[in-house]
Amino acid sequence: MKKHIAVLAGDGIGPEITAGAVAVLQKVAQKYRHKFTFEHLPIGGAAIDAFGEPLPARTIERCLASDSVLLGAVGGPKWDGLAGNKRPEAGLLGIRKAMGLYSNIRPAKLWRALADASPLKKPLVENGVEIIIVRELTGGIYFGERGNSQDEAWDTEKYSVHEIERITRIACELARKRTKQVISVDKANVLETSRLWRKTAHAYAEKHFPDVTITDMLVDNAAMQIVKNPAQFDVLLTSNMFGDILADEAAQITGSIGMLASSSLGDGTRGLYEPIHGSAPDIAGKDIANPIATVLSCAMMLRDSFCRSEECAAIENAVARVLDEGFRTADIFSKGMKKVGCRDMAALITEHI
Ligand code: IPM
Ligand code: MG
Repeated sequence: MKKHIAVLAGDGIGPEITAGAVAVLQKVAQKYRHKFTFEHLPIGGAAIDAFGEPLPARTIERCLASDSVLLGAVGGPKWDGLAGNKRPEAGLLGIRKAMGLYSNIRPAKLWRALADASPLKKPLVENGVEIIIVRELTGGIYFGERGNSQDEAWDTEKYSVHEIERITRIACELARKRTKQVISVDKANVLETSRLWRKTAHAYAEKHFPDVTITDMLVDNAAMQIVKNPAQFDVLLTSNMFGDILADEAAQITGSIGMLASSSLGDGTRGLYEPIHGSAPDIAGKDIANPIATVLSCAMMLRDSFCRSEECAAIENAVARVLDEGFRTADIFSKGMKKVGCRDMAALITEHI
């Protein structure tokens, strides 16, 4: 298999974690006789510094010409003063939109070796936790009309039936392979968009996925339920903003946000794969970041864009073995474990493939 992968390292710890992940992909290529080529492209603050804009046209062009995209993270205090559409984050939102990646999957999974790292009491997590967050990614308030005047500012949440249906399909397809249960999160007691979301999701699932059950949960309650009884969730379907927020909460109960991968896909197989954490400017360049979320994002790329379950499992197993052997980056470190940096963690995973 020959694949061309665009690498958008971005800002902060982005370059370190993507370098580690690329090393892991190179090892996979070597072991399974694939040929992967990598093309580094600017995005976010790095692109602002070099080209004056967070998403240069060439980055979009080359991503659309690639087989898939690996992204590190964007943003940092250096660019905080910029106008909204000039900020590094606009680059990330822009590439998601330009590639048509409406479906963002964020699996929040508690790793066996890290059971003690969860801030929740043991009985709540001892039987494992795996929440598959299905977040709508190119609609809603992050893309709605916005503006400001001297003493006002506004953002708008808007969803169409089509946007809700296609993300409902993704959640139902996933649920079909799992518990056949979807919890759909909204704020239907207040928002019109949520009432449309609820109605559309149910009608669509009833028609196309009669074997899947959708249960509704209000977002404020969901935020509480995730820490009260995380085991009740399997596939969690939600809008762009609610998914953004709940994914970070779910990540934390797994011990560290440094462990959570994600895939963003549209109608084709070309996707964008990124850790769900941010650019962590405070620890950038110190070789202490956790590369595992980015490495696991590469595993998702192999499975979901390149149809290689075996190679995906090889990466996931390598991560599990490195953790079982007691190696930890600072964010998941506990007494008695062996502390390693970003580079060494990636090298250990590479060795275990
Ligand atoms: C994420 C991030 C982004 C988002 C930001 C950086 C634009 O928080 O991927 O979760 O809100 O989607
Ligand atoms: Mg986020």
